[in-house]
Amino acid sequence: MAPSGKKDAREQIARLCRELDRHGRLYYLEDRPVISDADYDGLLRQLGELETRFPEFARSDSPTQRVGAPPAAGFESRAHLAPMLSLDNALGEAELQAFDQRVRRELGREDEPIEYACEPKLDGAGIELIYRDGQLEAGLTRGDGSRGEDVTANLRLVLSIPLAIEFESVPPTLSVRGEIVLPKAPLRRLNAARIESGEEPFANPRNAAAGALRQLHQVDRRRLRSLEFRAYAVADPAALGVASQMEILGRLADFGFAVSPESAAKKGIDAVARYHEELLRGRNDLPVECDGSVVKLNRLDQQDEVGNLARSPRWAIAMKFPPEQARTRVEAIEVQVGRTGALTPVAKLTPVSVGGVTVSNASLHNQDEIDRKDVRIGDTIVVQRAGDVIPQIVGVIPEERPAKTRRFRLPKRCPVCKAQTVRLEGEVVTRCPNLDCPAQLKTNLRHLASRGAFDIEGLGEKLIDQLVERGTVSRLSDVFALDAVALGELDRMGEKSAENLVASLAAARDTTLARFLIGLGIRHVGTNVAGLLAQRFGDLDRLASASVDTLAAIAGVGPVIAESVSRFFGDPRNRAETERFRELGVRWEVRAEAAPIEDGPLSGKSFVLTGTLLNLKRSEARERIEAAGGRVSGSVSKKTDYLVAGADPGSKLRKAGELEVAVLDEAGLLEILK
Ligand code: IVH
Repeated sequence: MAPSGKKDAREQIARLCRELDRHGRLYYLEDRPVISDADYDGLLRQLGELETRFPEFARSDSPTQRVGAPPAAGFESRAHLAPMLSLDNALGEAELQAFDQRVRRELGREDEPIEYACEPKLDGAGIELIYRDGQLEAGLTRGDGSRGEDVTANLRLVLSIPLAIEFESVPPTLSVRGEIVLPKAPLRRLNAARIESGEEPFANPRNAAAGALRQLHQVDRRRLRSLEFRAYAVADPAALGVASQMEILGRLADFGFAVSPESAAKKGIDAVARYHEELLRGRNDLPVECDGSVVKLNRLDQQDEVGNLARSPRWAIAMKFPPEQARTRVEAIEVQVGRTGALTPVAKLTPVSVGGVTVSNASLHNQDEIDRKDVRIGDTIVVQRAGDVIPQIVGVIPEERPAKTRRFRLPKRCPVCKAQTVRLEGEVVTRCPNLDCPAQLKTNLRHLASRGAFDIEGLGEKLIDQLVERGTVSRLSDVFALDAVALGELDRMGEKSAENLVASLAAARDTTLARFLIGLGIRHVGTNVAGLLAQRFGDLDRLASASVDTLAAIAGVGPVIAESVSRFFGDPRNRAETERFRELGVRWEVRAEAAPIEDGPLSGKSFVLTGTLLNLKRSEARERIEAAGGRVSGSVSKKTDYLVAGADPGSKLRKAGELEVAVLDEAGLLEILK
């Protein structure tokens, strides 16, 4: 609404400032934006326009004057070597043309095309890396543009950041600017894991990257390692002795930085516009998310001539892709029951095209999420596909809410088996606790038949539904009891298909321990963990009797997974079930020996156990030594590194004395196992 008078303008400016400050805080400090970038930019523009018309009301601390956010508490703040500028946006081609015209006018080159460096606008977090004599000294977030947070320790874990630059000539002080991004593949994995554990997935790749960078205690090292740094600028180009932006990129690549391979020089603004269109078309195939293109005057002398504003250069502009957002209506909220019994509310939407993909479902994740967004049946909502992640509901449009709607609550009973649902304290997930719930069984069966597990060709979703609904299959192992007779009784199952399925079941019986473990659907045991467990134990029985400590000591396993595996095998029903798989002919290669751990603290050390230990069972001591990489053998020899002697040790202790082998008591063993 255009303000009619000065008073209106003043009020609107104040309101916009408040609103933008709030969104800025949510975005930068809490990594949880509640409005889309496009909406934010829209508000910022409105404010900018009002401030231009009514400069008397423009505040010096207005969000339009600010670049990013002030440094958050928890990290030291540090000044950038030179201010980190932001970019002005061109909304649409007309504004891009206007930018070009202005630049040509200012350069006095109205009649000739200008050369621009075009780059993808990476959707991550901008950072500055400071090198002294070629050594990485510090890494800072952009912060408010003049000071950033010192996140050096975290950035050191990012593999694509050179800790030292090896090149014949490196300026004594070098500030490299670029973007930290979380590539699509790890982002997808991360979001899948977050959903599985009941957390909200990241709204966009930028928040996932920024959140990783700002971890105070590096709790999520894996996420840090998945980050990628792409360089696109230096603070002082003169120090490089180059003449253009493209040469800067070339030099950065020589220094060992990754630069966007899509960067290119283009002559004339029409070629720039075509570059933008092409990048947009190829966007989905890029490994990292980009949300537009950045257009920079290629020649550095021309950049200098055109100059900078306080907040952004006048020689560059960002052209964003159209937002991948759309409005639609929530027709229903369906509750699905997953493999672990988790109840997931899914909004059924009037189908709508978002960035070229039709979206008709969007997960609402859990009750907390529903409460936070207050999504109701009948609401008009905004959905987005944030950088090729799962469609998300950004928010409800309150003015469009019909009369007589009700808050949505997850059901008290499982929609499939009617068991009472539970939500444990401290958990966000509401679950159906019934292990025999057909819904859980169906999803577990789909998982069992999937590629990474038993890979059973012909056992598809429809067939699984039928098998469960008819009661032909009432637990996982029943699949391997299926024969031509049982299959022949099903609807739409021809003789040939039945034969084929029997044949693929026969083939699937020969599997590996890792695939078998994946197929069991133990919580938190995916491909990676199953591989580690199979590698470590070589056999199901050894794995099934391993203690939580032994499991947790395996690199890559950790306490949560260990607990889950141990709980699974601790349940007699599961033990009976695994036994039944074997009875029905499922087999894998068993290794006689558990594999030694190659990079454990006790790797290469040989132990012999003797006598009675007080706190540890012999088998447990053995497991823990092995989990730390050591080997346990039966008799003392010159090769033995330690004899662990409990009460009443006997002859082995004497032998150890003769061979001068180190002797540990139980406490000593526990000490070196720490
Ligand atoms: S150049 C002086 N190049 O977009 C120009 N920025 O909205 C400074 N960004 O703060 C930036 N990709 O974090 C530049 N190829 C690219 C970029 C890029 C992403 C980010 C950067 C900047 C923000 C501006």
